[in-house]
Amino acid sequence: MPAVCCDSVVLDQIALTESVRLLSASWNDPEHLPHAGQFFMLRCWGMGEGPFLSRPISLHYWDPGKKMVEFLYEIKGEGTRRLAQLEAGDAIQLTGPSGNGFDAQAIPQRARLALVGGGIGTAPLYQLARELNARGIRPDGYFGFRDEPFAMESFRGLCGVVRVATDSGRFGFHGLVTEMLEPENYDLILTCGPVPMMRGVYSKCAAAGVRCLVSMENKMACGIGACLGCTCHTKEGPRSVCKNGPVFEGSEVFGE
Ligand code: FES
Repeated sequence: MPAVCCDSVVLDQIALTESVRLLSASWNDPEHLPHAGQFFMLRCWGMGEGPFLSRPISLHYWDPGKKMVEFLYEIKGEGTRRLAQLEAGDAIQLTGPSGNGFDAQAIPQRARLALVGGGIGTAPLYQLARELNARGIRPDGYFGFRDEPFAMESFRGLCGVVRVATDSGRFGFHGLVTEMLEPENYDLILTCGPVPMMRGVYSKCAAAGVRCLVSMENKMACGIGACLGCTCHTKEGPRSVCKNGPVFEGSEVFGE
């Protein structure tokens, strides 16, 4: 189903760290039901009065009962700075849900799963953990941050194990999240975060013969597969992350 453009309303916005925000907005379109790993294009400015492009932000949480979606994002540029100024009641335009996302329904119920997130790449893994739990699957979670973890509490009730690593050693394991991961303990690993981290996760999975799905976070422009601005080089040739992804087999993107 193609993405839809919807005039929505901000329900709340919370600062989790100096640069990370949790924004909730109304979403009440029964024909466009989002799922984990998909993203929306967010915009709160008119043509000619802000950045030219909308900002792609992955879905962090969706509650059909409350008719709301939630986005966890990092302030990185002009667009996200504008989003960060929004308060409850302000207007926001959401275009989505877009992309393939993770197919939680296709994962066998007995599969042993690990989620591996890095920084703001943890955002889509929360909705994924929720969808897996709804199917009776409880994954383990491994999360890496530079210095300060965020949004970890939400994972504790959904994951068997939650392990945190920081580059600085201020919280949890001092080192890379990939150092904590033992892929041989799992049937499938699903990861989202910086490319070097996902490449490291894939390499360990490949060495252990474990399947790995990666969610790419390439820069986007149109968000609908029209501009080739988010092309990712895969074994099958160039693919657009917004239309063919953002979720790919790790072997497709990082394989030899
Ligand atoms: Fe335009 Fe993906 S952002 S093709």
